[in-house]
Amino acid sequence: MPQKICLITGANAGIGKAAVIQFAQQGWRTIMACRSRQRGEAALQEVKASANSDAVELMLVDMSLQASIRDLADAFLARYDRLDALIHNAAIFDITQKEAIYTEEGVERFWATNHIGPVLLTERLLPALKQSAQGRILTVGSKGLLAKPFLKVDLVDPEFRNKKFNATNAYYQSKLAQIIYTRWLAEQLQGTNITVNCIRVPAVQTDVSKYGDLPAIMKKLYAVKSRFALTPAQMAEVYLWAATADELSHVTGQCFDEKRKVVGVPKFARQAENVKTVMNLVLGYLKRAPSS
Ligand SMILES: NC(=O)c1ccc[n+]([C@@H]2O[C@H](COP(=O)([O-])OP(=O)(O)OC[C@H]3O[C@@H](n4cnc5c(N)ncnc54)[C@H](OP(=O)(O)O)[C@@H]3O)[C@@H](O)[C@H]2O)c1
Repeated sequence: MPQKICLITGANAGIGKAAVIQFAQQGWRTIMACRSRQRGEAALQEVKASANSDAVELMLVDMSLQASIRDLADAFLARYDRLDALIHNAAIFDITQKEAIYTEEGVERFWATNHIGPVLLTERLLPALKQSAQGRILTVGSKGLLAKPFLKVDLVDPEFRNKKFNATNAYYQSKLAQIIYTRWLAEQLQGTNITVNCIRVPAVQTDVSKYGDLPAIMKKLYAVKSRFALTPAQMAEVYLWAATADELSHVTGQCFDEKRKVVGVPKFARQAENVKTVMNLVLGYLKRAPSS
C-alpha cells in the first residue's frame, strides 16, 4: 500500500502540531502548512523527534492570502500527485483585536483566514484528493457556536466594512460559514471518492501568551478554562480518527464532536437557501483576479 499523505494547515502549534505527530506515528507522510518559516522549522524538528519520523515536511502558506494559497497548492502538486487527507485546522481567534484588519488583498482577516482560505485551498488540491483511494477533507468548527444560536453569515457585510468590528462575531461567522461549506462541498462531491466532514472543537488548551494585549482578567479566565479543557493531543486524536476510520469511508457532510458523535449544526446552516446564498458569496471571492 502506498504511504498515505496528509496536509494540515496551522501545524506549528496547538492541535495542528499534535495531529502531525499522531499522523507521522501512524506512518503517514505529513505536510505541515505553516505561515512562519521560523515557527514552522522549530515545530518540524520537535515533531520529527516526537514521532521518530522523517516523513514530515514543512511548506509555507499564509492562509489569509489567496496568492500564498495558490503557491502552496502549486508547490504541493509539483511534488505529489495524490493527497489522502486535507485538514483545515489553521484559524485566528484573537479576541483582543478591536478593529477590522484587511489583508494586502483587501479581505477582512478572520474571513480570509478561517473561511475563504480553506475554500480556495480545497479547490486547488481537489485534483490530488481525487487520486486518493478515498480522500478525506476535514474542516474545523467550534462548540462555542452553541452560545450563538441566532448568528448568521452577514450576506451584505461579512467583512465589517459598514458596522463596528467584533472579533467574536467575526470568528464565529467564519466557523458557521465553514459548516455551511462542509455541507455544500459534501453535496458537490457526492458520487466521488472524497468525503468532507467537520470536527466541532470544544475548549482545548491553547497558548494565550501570543495575545499580548489580553487583559489580566481574561488571562485568569483562560487559566481556569484551561483546567477543564482538552489537551491538543486529545483533540488531535479525533482528527486522526476522522481521517482514518474505516467506518467513515462513506460518511460525508457530517459534524463530529470530541466524543466522535455526530452533532447537529446551527439552524442557519441547515437551511438550503442559506447554503446557496453563502456559497454564491464565497465563490465570488475566488473569482476575483489573483492580484486583487
Ligand atoms: N483551542 C480551542 O479552545 C478551540 C475551540 C474551538 C475551535 N478551535 C479551532 O481549532 C483549530 C486549532 O486551534 P488551536 O487551539 O490549535 O489554535 P492555535 O494553537 O492558536 O493554532 C492555530 C494555528 O493556526 C495558524 N495560523 C493562524 N493564522 C494563519 C495563517 N494566516 N496562515 C497559516 N496559518 C495560520 C497558527 O500559526 P502561527 O503560530 O503562525 O500563529 C497556528 O499554527 C482552529 O481552527 C480553532 O478555530 C479551537
